[in-house]
Formats: sequence, C-alpha cells, structure tokens
Amino acid sequence: MHEISVKITINQKDYERNIQPNTLLVDFLREELGLTGTHVGCDTSQCGACMVLHNKSAIKSCSILVAQLNKQEITTIENLQKDNELHPMQNAFRNNHGLQCGFCTPGMIMSAISLVNENSNPSEKDIRKYLEGNLCRCTGYQNIIKSIEEGAKDMKEPRITNV
Ligand code: FES
Ligand code: FES
Repeated sequence: MHEISVKITINQKDYERNIQPNTLLVDFLREELGLTGTHVGCDTSQCGACMVLHNKSAIKSCSILVAQLNKQEITTIENLQKDNELHPMQNAFRNNHGLQCGFCTPGMIMSAISLVNENSNPSEKDIRKYLEGNLCRCTGYQNIIKSIEEGAKDMKEPRITNV
C-alpha cells in the first residue's frame, strides 16, 4: 500500500507524517507517538478504553483512521494535566475512588469531559446514558458516576483538592 502524508495536531503539537492509509488513530497514538495512556480493551469497538477528544467530543480512536483526521486536532489523556495539576475530572475520579485497575479510566475520563462539554449539569441518568459506550470490568460504575457528578461541578468551579 502506498503511504500518504497527513498533518495532525495532537495535544497542541503539530505532526506531519507519512503513514499507511489504513492506520488507526489508536495505533498512531500508541506506537508512533508513544502516547500509551489511550488504551485498547477490545477489537469490537465496544469498550471505550480508547476514547480521545476530537475538538471537544469523545471519539473511539480504534474506530477512526488518521487519514480521516487530516489537519484536525486530537487531545489525549496525557494532555489533561496542566502545570502539574490534575484536571478536575481526574481529581474527581481520585477523590471518589472511581477506578480500581484503571484500565478503563482514561476512556471514562475523556467521555466524562465530553459529556460535561455538552451538558454542564448532567443528572445521574444523563451520565449513565452517556457512558453506554464505556465498559468497566471492575467498579460496578457507582463510584464512576459519583466521580463524574463531582467532576462536572468542579469543571465549572475548579477548587483546590490537594488531599
Ligand atoms: S478499544 Fe475498545 S472501543 Fe476502542
Ligand atoms: S477500573 Fe478496571 S476496568 Fe474499570
């Protein structure tokens, strides 16, 4: 297969690469750029461990080609922390024990931020519905829901959570 040239902005950094046209975004992130915070948990596009933000919305990076994102912008979990401070949604997961093994967590957090970008005051029902594309094998979801409720509040009014 002939390589194609793509330009893509990842975590506010511009990349220009020659790639195979069938390169999935998740493979590009993990193997080409070493951004292994984006996980692969299935081969059926069901688990959501691979979620990243495209503009302000979560997308499954295992289900999109880099070639489809030419000249577009992607944010991964690695870019949420600013000035050594966790993102409010990351803090909320930590405060509320919203994870056990942590495998699903990057995808959960990217979906949660995407939800709050669309709806700054989500109800429990809104959160459960939005998480239909994210699977967790460990937690039973209750603490994930609590985390997202707190994270949504803190995204509006970030507070110091140095505990
Ligand atoms: S790796 Fe499971 S949905 Fe993408
Ligand atoms: S915390 Fe283990 S899969 Fe979600």
